[in-house]
Amino acid sequence: MMQIDIFESAEKMAYEAAGKIIDLVSHKPNAVLCLAGGETPRLTYQCLTGEAKKRNIDFSSVQWVSLDEWVGIPPSNAGSCYHFLQQHLFNPLAVHPSNIHFFDAMAANVSTECEKMNAKIKQWQRLDLILVGIGMNGHIGFNEPGVDATLPAHVIELDSITQQVGQKYFTENTHLQKGITLGISQFIQAGMAILIAAGASKAGIIKKAVEEPVSKWVPASHIQAHANAWVMLDAAAAGALKINEKR
Ligand code: GLP
Repeated sequence: MMQIDIFESAEKMAYEAAGKIIDLVSHKPNAVLCLAGGETPRLTYQCLTGEAKKRNIDFSSVQWVSLDEWVGIPPSNAGSCYHFLQQHLFNPLAVHPSNIHFFDAMAANVSTECEKMNAKIKQWQRLDLILVGIGMNGHIGFNEPGVDATLPAHVIELDSITQQVGQKYFTENTHLQKGITLGISQFIQAGMAILIAAGASKAGIIKKAVEEPVSKWVPASHIQAHANAWVMLDAAAAGALKINEKR
């Protein structure tokens, strides 16, 4: 079941999203988490690390799984997903490197990276929680419009919108052609899925994702089929929805 929660501000949304992660880890200290990079979750991670310190929540046994990465971009590049998570989560929480399971987007054979990730997820049986943002074209991770939703982790040719929008993460113009990503099937099987979106620029695609029929052309719409999903929006991102009750 998918529940939609609308908050009056992005700050409130971030606080609630962080609360869900904290609650899970308090009950399951060895949870397997997959948390997205991107601009949207920045505040959520700030709340998460702040609350974790304040409430002394033990994250030392949590396993951290990569959602996606730009193929050919090294982790040292500030635009990489790894770099973002390192800065906003792994460093503040002092995560031990052995608990970080990320795609090596610099590997000579990126398909092998996908196989390794699929094997790990099989071994854990499932991800306990996955938190994603939504791309302007409706992607989650790098599951681009038209993607086969039955795929597990895979390498994909990036959509032209993703290539353009993605430039915002980099200090100089960067060639972004391929991505490596967990698949929609792994997203659907996660114990809990959270999709967060903030700002008016996301209002149109959010409407398509949650109020129109599930379609491979809007990969995020698959969240409607998830057994335990939360769509958390600020008022602006919810601006085009029929249901518009604010918290
Ligand atoms: C990016 C990433 C996604 C992210 C999404 C939204 O391209 N591949 O993991 O969730 O697009 O990003 P943002 O939050 O910056 O809008």
